Amino acid sequence: MKKDFISVSDFTQTEIIDTFKLAIDMKQNKEKYSEGLKGKGLFIYFEKDSLRTRVSFDVGIHELGGYSVVVVAANESSRIGTRESIYDVAKNLERMVGGIMMRTFSHSKVVDMAIHSRIPVINGLTDYSHPCQAMADYLTFYEKKGDLKGKKLCYVGDGNNVAHSLMEAGAILGVNVTISTPKGYEPNLIAFQEAEALAKETGSKIKVVHNPIEAIKDADAVYTDVWASMGQESEAAMRKKIFAPYQVNDELMSYAKSDAIFMHCLPAHRGDEVTDSVIDSENSVVFDEAENRLHVQKAIMFQLMK
Ligand code: CP
Ligand code: NVA
Repeated sequence: MKKDFISVSDFTQTEIIDTFKLAIDMKQNKEKYSEGLKGKGLFIYFEKDSLRTRVSFDVGIHELGGYSVVVVAANESSRIGTRESIYDVAKNLERMVGGIMMRTFSHSKVVDMAIHSRIPVINGLTDYSHPCQAMADYLTFYEKKGDLKGKKLCYVGDGNNVAHSLMEAGAILGVNVTISTPKGYEPNLIAFQEAEALAKETGSKIKVVHNPIEAIKDADAVYTDVWASMGQESEAAMRKKIFAPYQVNDELMSYAKSDAIFMHCLPAHRGDEVTDSVIDSENSVVFDEAENRLHVQKAIMFQLMK
């Protein structure tokens, strides 16, 4: 049966760890995999802007011997589901390519594509989640800090798509995840409850607290993301005021472990959610996370599309 990667929980803990091992091997022995997906096509589709996702999937499929077809739906009328039904698009694509990577506003569009197509579908970010990012992030956390079980990751900022996937993946991997948000900007309740249920199996603790200083204590990794995500541009000015106490700066970082790493999915709004002094510090691993998007997604594509 074909497998998709819509949520981190599409993979078991063992499958995630195997994916990390494969990604590390791909990073160290790139040539070994140069024909891993020889001749296979990946359809890459965007409704939102992208740098890392676009480049890493495109480079990744080529490094595996395949090729890409990139489609950017510049306006609403050209989007899948508007110009043509998701079902019909799925039935066309499965006859031409070996896999689909999608970045959409609505999460259900990616889910529907996976239901209707006979080829694997990979979620490259929706309003609800960003599972490939979480995979690259925990791979980076593992590379920097070793065994993840019982380690603490503190996410400070908006309870958004990135926060959802970090909670979910952390719960599966046995990482304690504390999310610190202003009131009213907590993660989605279902995402939180699903992470809590997964955490019961691994013993990890998933918490949501409002006080960032309390949240960050004993953190091995401190993570933040933009205060207004793509699609929320009209709220940016209002959010800037509400989120100001949640800026990750030197003072806030001083409450984490002294060797805590700083993480960000990027793009960053320097001076808003993070200061230059933190993102440019020795403990910042933001560009390692970006690089690991390439390696971990190659490992995901290889497993789903081979
Ligand atoms: N982190 C991330 O997904 O970056 P892009 O939006 O540039 O793809
Ligand atoms: N939360 C951000 C992540 C970008 C990679 C957004 O959705 O815009």
